[in-house]
Amino acid sequence: MEIFKQIAPLRAYLKIQKERKLSIGLVPTMGALHPGHLTLIGNSRAENDLTVCSIYVNPTQFNNASDLAKYPRLLEKDSAMLEEAGCDVLFAPANEAMYAAASELKMDFGDLDKILEGKFRPGHFSGVGLVVSKLFNIVQPDVAYFGQKDYQQFAVITRLKEELLFDLRLKAVPIVREKDGLAMSSRNMRLAPDQRQRAIVFYQSLLLAKSLLEQGKSWKQIEEEVKRKCEAQPEVKLEYIALADRKNLNPLNNVTDRSAAVLLIAGYVGEIRLIDNLLLEE
Ligand code: PAJ
Repeated sequence: MEIFKQIAPLRAYLKIQKERKLSIGLVPTMGALHPGHLTLIGNSRAENDLTVCSIYVNPTQFNNASDLAKYPRLLEKDSAMLEEAGCDVLFAPANEAMYAAASELKMDFGDLDKILEGKFRPGHFSGVGLVVSKLFNIVQPDVAYFGQKDYQQFAVITRLKEELLFDLRLKAVPIVREKDGLAMSSRNMRLAPDQRQRAIVFYQSLLLAKSLLEQGKSWKQIEEEVKRKCEAQPEVKLEYIALADRKNLNPLNNVTDRSAAVLLIAGYVGEIRLIDNLLLEE
């Protein structure tokens, strides 16, 4: 695996690969890799000649300084996992490379970044849009891979691609879960063992909400029931459970078309913030 920390040598290397007509898949990550990330690598490898994974903990998308400071950084272990997974190129830049110019550019995605994650993490999607644009510009991949785990992020990046006319395809990969259903996340490793047990409440809440919808309960009742279920667990705080339109994430109050709806949840276990979601129909 080739490893680059600087932009110019990576660009020079990729230019040669493109002249050789090799197709390029990009998997952007913040590291602390787990099998969810590796599934994205696997998808890219299956569909492209060359797979580039980026590992960069992007400061502009963190609205909480302590979350940024405590975000796990495990570059050596990650690098070994990527090598093992057959990734071709690792791009692991420092802040000086990615933000050589002081960052003042802000991105506004209209309604899409004012709701759900955008409401609870102001500025988050501006930072995501900024760093993903930089990565698209540096790598210029044929296809870029993202997880459905960050459902709203994928919607934001889809809009980004359309508005800025990035010449690439986007692929969303289904959520990879632990055996008990917990969505894999780099933040899970920060959970103490008892918190790890309780973290499953968010996935269970999504399943509960789905089954209550099927029983015809009103969304208001469901929200209340989920809140009760979550907050019966010590240290668990629910931020939101939402029923939304899969395309634009606008809130729904009931389901007329199951294939058009998604349930989304976010909350804390102790100081660790977790998110998850569930399509009402695959
Ligand atoms: P990160 O949280 O490291 O996630 C990198 C990619 O892996 C994202 O597309 C995310 O949706 C996907 N992913 C995470 N957990 C997953 C799981 N359990 N199953 C499937 N896919 C999963 O998302 C980011 O980094 C950043 O915001 C980034 C896009 C890299 C921009 O900084």
